[in-house]
Amino acid sequence: MCGIVGAIAQRPVVEILLEGLRRLEYRGYDSAGVAVVRDTGDLVRSRALGKVAALTDRLADEPIDGKLGIAHTRWATHGVPAERNAHPHFSGEWVGIVHNGIIENHVELRERLKNDGYRFDSDTDTEVVAHLIDVFRRKGISLLDAVMAARCELQGAYALAVISPDETDTLIVARHGSPLVIGLGIGENFIGSDIQALLPVTSRFIYLENGDVAKINRHKIDIYDANGERVSRPVKESSAAMCSAELGEYRHFMLKEIFEQPQSVAATLENRLAGDHVLPSLLGAPDALEKLAQVEEIQIIACGTSYHAGLVGRYWIEANTDIPCHVEVASEYRYRRQPPRKNMLFVTISQSGETADTLAALEKIKENHGCMATLTICNVAESSLTRESDMSLMTMAGPEIGVASTKAFTTQLVALQLLMVLLMQAKGADKARVEQITADLRKLPALIEQALDLNPKIEVLSERFIEKHHSLFLGRGELYPVAMEGALKLKEISYIHAEAYPAGELKHGPLALVDSEMPIVTVAPSTGLLEKLKSNLEEVRSRGGELYVFADREAHIKADDSLHVLEVPHVPELLAPIVYTVPLQLLSYHVAVQKGTDVDKPRNLAKSVTVE
Ligand code: AGP
Repeated sequence: MCGIVGAIAQRPVVEILLEGLRRLEYRGYDSAGVAVVRDTGDLVRSRALGKVAALTDRLADEPIDGKLGIAHTRWATHGVPAERNAHPHFSGEWVGIVHNGIIENHVELRERLKNDGYRFDSDTDTEVVAHLIDVFRRKGISLLDAVMAARCELQGAYALAVISPDETDTLIVARHGSPLVIGLGIGENFIGSDIQALLPVTSRFIYLENGDVAKINRHKIDIYDANGERVSRPVKESSAAMCSAELGEYRHFMLKEIFEQPQSVAATLENRLAGDHVLPSLLGAPDALEKLAQVEEIQIIACGTSYHAGLVGRYWIEANTDIPCHVEVASEYRYRRQPPRKNMLFVTISQSGETADTLAALEKIKENHGCMATLTICNVAESSLTRESDMSLMTMAGPEIGVASTKAFTTQLVALQLLMVLLMQAKGADKARVEQITADLRKLPALIEQALDLNPKIEVLSERFIEKHHSLFLGRGELYPVAMEGALKLKEISYIHAEAYPAGELKHGPLALVDSEMPIVTVAPSTGLLEKLKSNLEEVRSRGGELYVFADREAHIKADDSLHVLEVPHVPELLAPIVYTVPLQLLSYHVAVQKGTDVDKPRNLAKSVTVE
């Protein structure tokens, strides 16, 4: 989704802005642009369709620079990807603006501004905001007051950064819904949609709250809350390492992140397991165990990959506790009437912590006092979800750059296991069972290492998929959501149509699709439902389907011409969803590489979906 960078310094800022944009490329975008107030006092911009590299080339041919500037990567929502729709947008020569989010009442505002004589050069909702700010600026008030006045008329979600040659020592930002962070320098300050953009220039950050507006000078920052009151927000020192966004020896971030999973899983377990139990302190709330003891029901809300993690979590929680657990995608849940529920724990799962639908679902439940406590499983400390939730269970995956989620998913599964064990402890479950699960969890990094050893074999296998247009993924029980995640990976990066089914559902319809052209990927660990799954595989085989089965030796599945078996290490039943995810990630990665797609930035997708 759109990325924002801004700087106010005593040195030229265009190079800083471009580097910030490069570091936001992972979010997904279709055009990029930069605007500065030159030392001569004029507002100028440069924009290009396509990658930041295209903007860099343009700036090399026609350089602009200044000590106050804003920059943007655009992911089209209103208006096609085109240079005229790329940000920054201007109102005449006086207001320059970049925006992340959606202005819902832009049509009415556009009509009104047109009647006032404003001309529109783009189809975007953002240009409306630029003109609206200009309406107030013309009344002779400061840029800060003009932005404050304009925001009162905006409906929707936004993060805004505004500059004007009227005030060469001022960068104004406003946040409502979409994230925005201020980076603190010495005699210079910066803004960005996330800290990744600013790590080359600072490690000290202020996270704006919803409704905040800030006036940023080179030496001073004034922040005002939604009521216009001066407020102070804490400065946080980030330990995020700059090099974590580097590729190193890997060809793609996705491959790097797949291979980082033993470490990210180990980091998610570190300091959270005592000898024979899970430490409740991991939830960051002193009364966590007492709260969990009262839980009578759980609602998990998430999107995409994080939703799949939630689905696995439901199997685990319901199998090991007496607590009913429901899982729903945030975009549906947020618009559905919810009957009030007693003693419900509301759990959000998100890599970014900024997904608009998930945040909206959390806001809704809080507004309606519809739950006992909120908990987020999240990978980004200081994200909106962690700040808005009562408790946070952080995944320690480190920055995930590839749009296709990999290590975020497996660490979410680990976090769900930790939550499940905490619930068991809080409800007084059998100590031996808790001890067994914690002992098994410790084996996980080594088991993932073993699964990664399948990489060369999977690379060879992937050649069989490159001419395919469709595929089916099968699993049963908690391996069904793993099949869903495998199908999502394949479709999002290789663009091959992939559907996941619980294997028992095959004969109720999808079996009609099966012929020798249809690859059918199956995850078949030797767990309780294996014999049922084997019968489902026979149904496919007798219709000439081409089967690719990931199974352990104990599953005793015999390979033949149309049934290819890839041997996965034998794992304790509860860990199977985590370990069996790894070969599916590798499969989609290699298919995408062979097809020549943009693995880390697949078409039409964004890393962090901060608009509805
Ligand atoms: C999956 O590979 C995608 N990146 C996507 O489905 C993602 O999981 C979804 O947009 C939710 O993002 P979040 O975890 O940051 O909330």
